[in-house]
Amino acid sequence: MKAAVITSFGNPSVLRVSDAPRPDPGRGQVLARVHAAGVNPAEILARAGAFHLQAPAIIGFEFAGVVEAVGPGVDEDLVGKRVAGWPDSATQGSYAEYTVSSNYTTIPDGVSFEDAAATVIGADNAARALGLLHLRAGETLVVTGASGALGSAAVQFARHQDVTVIGVASEANADFVRSIGATPVAHGPGLVGRIRAAAPSGVDAALDTAGKGLLPDLVEVLGSPDRMVTLADRDAARHGVEFSAGHSGNRDHRPVRKALELIAAGEWTTRIGRSFPLADAAEAHRLVATGHTGGKVILIP
Ligand SMILES: NC(=O)c1ccc[n+]([C@@H]2O[C@H](COP(=O)([O-])OP(=O)(O)OC[C@H]3O[C@@H](n4cnc5c(N)ncnc54)[C@H](OP(=O)(O)O)[C@@H]3O)[C@@H](O)[C@H]2O)c1
Repeated sequence: MKAAVITSFGNPSVLRVSDAPRPDPGRGQVLARVHAAGVNPAEILARAGAFHLQAPAIIGFEFAGVVEAVGPGVDEDLVGKRVAGWPDSATQGSYAEYTVSSNYTTIPDGVSFEDAAATVIGADNAARALGLLHLRAGETLVVTGASGALGSAAVQFARHQDVTVIGVASEANADFVRSIGATPVAHGPGLVGRIRAAAPSGVDAALDTAGKGLLPDLVEVLGSPDRMVTLADRDAARHGVEFSAGHSGNRDHRPVRKALELIAAGEWTTRIGRSFPLADAAEAHRLVATGHTGGKVILIP
């Protein structure tokens, strides 16, 4: 199969398409023909060598595709079904024509492979983080990175719980943030004042998905870090804020399925910034590294 195989970790140009062995589905796994792979900030780090993965490596931590074959213990009826989920291995990932997975959900009719792939990591992490905040209908939540994959999923799940959302993003993304149901507030100096002006009755909780040093401002708005979670700021402990890390043990395909159903019903927006053929994986990585993608970046193997 064709795959973007990393033989040594480093700058984006290490992502080179070559032939690689097609994986076999093991017990509990499906073999999926990948039709779309989301490109994530974590993959920028992985490609640069931060995760100390073993080379040769095929990265890509979310996918959408069609089940080609199943391993022992998996219902044969899944063959031919459209699924989205997580590859089981960080080095047998979705920047490839095929990947193997035991954690996936079926894709409802009417949802594209691009939208499905773009929803997996965002919906899962957003739902887990929101669960930690114990939000109640009528409360007000600040979400930073509201224009991003995780942030826009958090905004939409919170709105479905009748929570009022202030969405922090760049000015250029204000219309998108408004379109998914949040009140847009621009990041940059003066953020505390702008959030207070947008939420005159106060803010109950905050979810940081930007990881750009906004925690002190959010603590100031809330008065304490008690109802704050960050998915992205490694300085969380210094500010008394909970960091929520996703890993293979806590991935949940149910919020992914929920988001995909809402897409099918026309009640959820997954914004695609740009799609690239697999051969342009390096270019896709350069775009994601800017931190301002204008929507999810997708690779089409
Ligand atoms: N904890 C976990 O398990 C976990 C899992 C997945 C991802 N993550 C992390 O979550 C973060 C978001 O991932 P993503 O996929 O949602 O990324 P993304 O789609 O690229 O979104 C990034 C967001 O950050 C905002 N942003 C960029 N620069 C900013 C700045 N200087 N100040 C304020 N906001 C800024 C962008 O807003 P504008 O473009 O509108 O400025 C955008 O909304 C990444 O750091 C990623 O590593 C963590």
